[in-house]
Amino acid sequence: MFTFFPTLFRRGRVAIALAGLALLTGCDFNFWRMDGHQSTIVVDGPVARAQLEVFYVTCWVTLFIFIIVGAVLAYASLKFRARSDADEHAEPPPQGHGNPLVELGLIGGSVLALVIIAVPTLKAIWFTYDIPAEEKANAYEITAVGYQWWFRFEYPGEQATIDATTKMPLVTGNELVIPAGRPVRINLRTFDVIHSLWIPKLAGKVDMIPNRANFLWLKADKPGYYWGQCAEYCGDSHAVMRFRVVALGPREFNAWLDQQLQPARTLVPRPADTSRPRPQFAALRSFRQNESGVTEKFDVDPLESWRAKQAPEKDENAELVAQGRSLFTTKACITCHTVRGHAGAGVTGPDLTHVGSRSTIGAGLLENNREQLQRWLHDPGAVKPGNKMAKGYVDSKITLTAEDEVALVAYLESLK
Ligand code: CUA
Repeated sequence: MFTFFPTLFRRGRVAIALAGLALLTGCDFNFWRMDGHQSTIVVDGPVARAQLEVFYVTCWVTLFIFIIVGAVLAYASLKFRARSDADEHAEPPPQGHGNPLVELGLIGGSVLALVIIAVPTLKAIWFTYDIPAEEKANAYEITAVGYQWWFRFEYPGEQATIDATTKMPLVTGNELVIPAGRPVRINLRTFDVIHSLWIPKLAGKVDMIPNRANFLWLKADKPGYYWGQCAEYCGDSHAVMRFRVVALGPREFNAWLDQQLQPARTLVPRPADTSRPRPQFAALRSFRQNESGVTEKFDVDPLESWRAKQAPEKDENAELVAQGRSLFTTKACITCHTVRGHAGAGVTGPDLTHVGSRSTIGAGLLENNREQLQRWLHDPGAVKPGNKMAKGYVDSKITLTAEDEVALVAYLESLK
């Protein structure tokens, strides 16, 4: 009778804990499938799959050991427990000193367990280290450079136009667009401290180390939109040093490249534009620090939302864009940023030539929309503590009026 209550109490606790967990996760289906944005359990590429297989093998082996050892321990505890007062005060039974069969069995079992783990681990290390020979000829090369706290992506094989006579390798920021179904070799470099590139559903993590030429390779099975994260502590805003990966089919990837290789888009104000009312921007709400501000639509189908960003906004106002373009120069944005074909040769901050076509800003932190762009321009330090743009505002005594912010947002948004 008395043993019944603790059992009931324990069962009750488990039930309450499970119910609490279900409530906390809002009975989120993806939580129970373990398929979050950064899941390493539901993966979309051969490298992440090889890493997952090693994880599972190790889990099963350790679970097997846990069950065997637990069962032996439970058996011994029950069989040899004290059954009466006399038992408790009795002398301990004669002690054994080693049983060769048991000891050899334990050594053999441990070696076997290690071999079972080692074989797939070594295979995975070889596989993930470099692109398989038969696929090497088809590989696409990209260089990723870590900065405090954002990523620059270079496409060494693609020559982007600056003007009629000058070209440079294509440079983008914070959104890594790759061809789906093709192995991608990513050279890993850093501008300052150690960072680490990690796209949980595709591959990772490999460090970006000063003065060391690391690389990793990955392949996305199919077109998709993925979440990435710097995985090595690198200063104040390490936790918000994120990025996105967009994998596209061959035709869509080439179309994207063609657009990116163009210099910045220039809007010519038509007479009608000056008479059109200026677009009404949503008033700047007071955001909590690092609130994602991601709209529901974006969360449901991020790849479709990304595609929608490739086309010009329907209500763009050329006059306002021109005003923003001039502020981009006079407010010293050009010292850190480049808009290829317009102004600036800055390399401290991300290249903004086609920033309007990206789905996020602030290194994968905020959705790229008017409200969030204005929020970022208004006070970048509140979104990403310690970043150089916030320092730049203070050092250069830059102040933006609400009207400046609106014009700059219109300009950045026009850069498709
Ligand atoms: Cu870069 Cu952490």
